[in-house]
This record gives sequence, C-alpha cells and structure tokens, in this order.
Amino acid sequence: MTKYVEEARVIGQRVLNRATKQIDLIAPRIAAEAVPGQFVNVQVSRRTAPLLRRPLGIAWVDKQHGAISLIYRIIGDATKILADVCSGDVISVVGPLGHGFDCSAKHPLLVGGGTGLAPLLYLAESMEEEGIRPDVLMGGRTADDLFWKDEYVNLVERMGLTTDDGSLGTRGTVMAELPLMLQRLHYDCVYVCGPAPMMKAVSAAVTEAGIKCQVSLERYMACGLGACLSCSCQGVGKRIKVCQDGPVFWAGEVTEW
Ligand code: FES
Repeated sequence: MTKYVEEARVIGQRVLNRATKQIDLIAPRIAAEAVPGQFVNVQVSRRTAPLLRRPLGIAWVDKQHGAISLIYRIIGDATKILADVCSGDVISVVGPLGHGFDCSAKHPLLVGGGTGLAPLLYLAESMEEEGIRPDVLMGGRTADDLFWKDEYVNLVERMGLTTDDGSLGTRGTVMAELPLMLQRLHYDCVYVCGPAPMMKAVSAAVTEAGIKCQVSLERYMACGLGACLSCSCQGVGKRIKVCQDGPVFWAGEVTEW
C-alpha cells in the first residue's frame, strides 16, 4: 500500500477534555488513501527533542478537502509540543500506515475506550456513509472521559456508556453492559480498540458468543514502518509487527495483549 510523507498544514486544534485534543491537518494524499483503522506518524517538532515520530490513529477524514483529523492525549513531551502547534504551522506526517478494518459487517458493534475510540470514529463514519449505523459501547473512568458521545451521536444507532465511578452511564467497565448487548442484539461483528485489559476481556466474551471480532492493538511504535521491532508481539505461531501486520487483527490471531 502506498504511503506518503506530507508537509501537512495545521488548520485547527480543538480541546475535547482536560487532557485530550483534536488536530486537523491538510494532507491530501493521505486523506485520499486512508481507510478506517490506519494511522499516521507525526513528527511533532523539527527543532527540539523528541525527534521520533508519534503514531496517531486517524479519527476523521474529509476526502473532498484533503483533510485528516487526529485525536491525542497530552501525556508526554511529544504530545505537549503537539498541543502547542498553531493553525498555519506545518508538520511532517507519514501515512497512511498499517492495515485497517474489514468493514463488511452488516450489524456491527464498536467497543472502545480512551483514544481507542479515535479509529472507531472513522470506522463509524465510513459505515454510516454506506447506510449502516453501528451500535457503540464506550467506557471511561469518569464522565469527563466520555466526551466521545458528542462525536459519535450522529453516526450510531444505539450508544452504551459505562464509567468506573458511575458518573455517567452504567457503573463499571464495558463488561458491565457487553454480555447483555451480545445476547439481545445479534451482532455479526464486534470491533474493539482501547486499553489492553479491555480488549482482552471483550474479545474473549465476543469469541465465546460465536461472533466475529476485530481488534486494533495499541503498542509503542518507534518507526511505524516495520523496521525497528519495538511494536512486535506474539501472534498465533509467529511474532507479529503491530505497525505493519496490523494494527487491526482478527481476535484469534493475537495471543499477547
Ligand atoms: Fe518499528 Fe513496528 S514500530 S517495527
């Protein structure tokens, strides 16, 4: 698959909650090629450390205007630098990278937490354009983590919300809602992205229910291009590179979360 290095012009940043922002970029060749589940590597600064690029899932694509949107948590030096980037600045972006989702489901459920909800957002948008409105189940620690509901509301049929502290939706993790949804709503595929313990628990329950399951793994990625092995993990009978063989896998292909 073709990947591009684009000098992308920043057209806006938006605060989503206390620790999360959305950045919008003009990157026409990446926008034209990107499919749901793929990611880009962003060079946050040319002048200061860290020099490595940061992988960010593609959360939204506007093919008509050649724009992509990325959602990121501000948790280290690199993302702090990114948070200070202004409209009109130019940053280097490589992509689209990795393999995306199989989007053939007719009655899909999306399950996510944290920034894992970013690639699922692009998936929901693509499905909605094809006339399929998925259900979504999202979990967070507190109500503040579930700002995502405003991003998804126009794209989905049903929305399930859970928080660890019970401040919004059902108290507990997504596992507090998932079994009943699987039992009642007859999904043909479940798409999962979020923290590793959540993906492990969800994929086990979905597989047990006899439903197909795709997972988008989150790993530290130094190069994003299959060259450094920093993202490698154990698959069935072989080591796999999340950046190159994934980040999306069928649940049965993964043994290490
Ligand atoms: Fe370097 Fe995957 S990030 S091989």
